[in-house]
Amino acid sequence: MIELLHVSKTFQNSWQALTEINFSIAKGEFVFLIGPSGSGKSTILRLLMMEESPDQGVVKVAGFGSDCIKRRQIPQLRRKLGVIFQDFKLLPERTVYENVAFALEVTGASHGAVHKKSMAALNQVGLSHKRHSLPYQMSGGEQQKVAIARALVNEPFILLADEPTGNVDPQGTLEIIQILKDINAKGTAVLMATHEQELVKKMPYRVLMLDNGKIEKDLPARITQRRREE
Ligand SMILES: Nc1ncnc2c1ncn2[C@@H]1O[C@H](COP(=O)(O)OP(=O)(O)OP(=O)(O)O)[C@@H](O)[C@H]1O
Ligand SMILES: [Mg+2]
Repeated sequence: MIELLHVSKTFQNSWQALTEINFSIAKGEFVFLIGPSGSGKSTILRLLMMEESPDQGVVKVAGFGSDCIKRRQIPQLRRKLGVIFQDFKLLPERTVYENVAFALEVTGASHGAVHKKSMAALNQVGLSHKRHSLPYQMSGGEQQKVAIARALVNEPFILLADEPTGNVDPQGTLEIIQILKDINAKGTAVLMATHEQELVKKMPYRVLMLDNGKIEKDLPARITQRRREE
């Protein structure tokens, strides 16, 4: 579903950002991507969105390959991915509902489908009652939940999250993690870059540890603990 094979990436005027990265993510997996600042977490996520291409190796996402994807196919690929960022990236002059609906309108969905799916996504993150609010009227945690709803309306097979709790208070962080767990339990894979070490330790999911552009460890999901939770 997602595969990086012998991937290296160097930016102009910088150190090698990634060196010989190899990993794959299976359908429905939950994976944390951790590592110090500058270790290459965001670069991996941008390679998966095909916003950047590798200097060496191949990135494969949902049947598309970085070595053969055409520029015009990139919007098709992006629609299969849900993406959320530390700074939410909501449209400031649009309401909560409009921010979510917009992601569907651009796909040419009918008015009825846009309404039904947008409301379902807002319900899923518990914010349908705030649909008429503007982003600045909401807390960081609430804005991130709106961004999650927007990421979900196109039913992506994976949610890519780049430090989604970086601008959210501790209570909001717990709520967002719970939402991501629920999304994953329904079958959507999640790849989450984060600095929240304590949180990662408490959860049973697989952990990819990056250091200086290399994968230092790939710790498997702790099956037993997950079974106990279920
Ligand atoms: N567009 C760019 N141009 C030049 N160098 C870049 C670019 N993007 C990333 N880099 C460099 O690549 C390396 C990895 O950066 P990246 O943003 O992936 O790290 P990160 O693990 O996400 O860090 P953080 O935890 O601070 O977000 C860094 O040395 C960074 O300076
Ligand atoms: Mg980053």
